[in-house]
Amino acid sequence: MNGWIRAGIFGVGAALSYCVWQNWELKRFGVTNYEAVTGKVKEEHRIVVLADLHGFSYGKGNCRLLAAVRRQRPELILIAGDLIVSKSPQTYGRALETLKALKKIAPVYYGLGNHESRAASRPAVSGFFEEYRQAAEKLGVVILQNQSADVRLGQDVVSLSGLELPLSYYERGRMKSLEPGVLADCLGKPSRGLTLLLAHNPAYSGEYAAWGADITFCGHNHGGLVRIPGIGGLISPQLRPFPRYGEGMHEIRGKRVIISRGLGTHTFHVRIFNRAELVCLTLAHGRRLEADKKYLKING
Ligand SMILES: [Fe+2]
Repeated sequence: MNGWIRAGIFGVGAALSYCVWQNWELKRFGVTNYEAVTGKVKEEHRIVVLADLHGFSYGKGNCRLLAAVRRQRPELILIAGDLIVSKSPQTYGRALETLKALKKIAPVYYGLGNHESRAASRPAVSGFFEEYRQAAEKLGVVILQNQSADVRLGQDVVSLSGLELPLSYYERGRMKSLEPGVLADCLGKPSRGLTLLLAHNPAYSGEYAAWGADITFCGHNHGGLVRIPGIGGLISPQLRPFPRYGEGMHEIRGKRVIISRGLGTHTFHVRIFNRAELVCLTLAHGRRLEADKKYLKING
């Protein structure tokens, strides 16, 4: 057997092995726990955040994901956008089933991602999306589309806002700057109490902190698809190489921004060293907002 044939057999074997491993990896997720200490709450609270599920289901009826959410015993469940794939109305049905089950665990508040915004604006699917949206609201899911709500958590009341930026802020190949004042135009002034913000696109993390959100929850970047140890995520959905905010909890101007690596995929079904994650935040009473980052991995 000559060298080229051996190299060809090796190449095919390596490609097949990668496909089998990647398929296995895409069916797994972990739970990432963060803790933030703040003087703006009187008691401890647990919040679970789902981002970028994109209609994916971990087991029948998303049973594995729902079991992991239940284990966190959340008082509040937040959706940081892209629960669906805009061009695939079948993902809307799966997302709705997931919302229905989540609502039985804790109150659910839903901030929109670019897939929801695009679905609402595409004539081919906008009717399906409107049905999905109405069905979600009928379940009692609160959709925050450039709106804010006061949310009671035990003895505390926190302010929660959901930002929907125009789709021009998601264009591929260029990053439009977010001028000062745009967030105030969309959301008004932040509250004086603890202000939480659902803002799908982490590219504007600095602007969210500057607006005054104490803790912002983002997704969108899917961890950068491939995570290179010591460097970070490879590429964002807007085709920016090595996005600054790919995952994790960041401190910006004394505020926190938590970026989920997301739970699903679409278009490029790739996750290398970048396992999907469910985010759980413990808000603890303390003198100042300071984060104690903890990882607790539970395979779902
Ligand atoms: Fe997104």
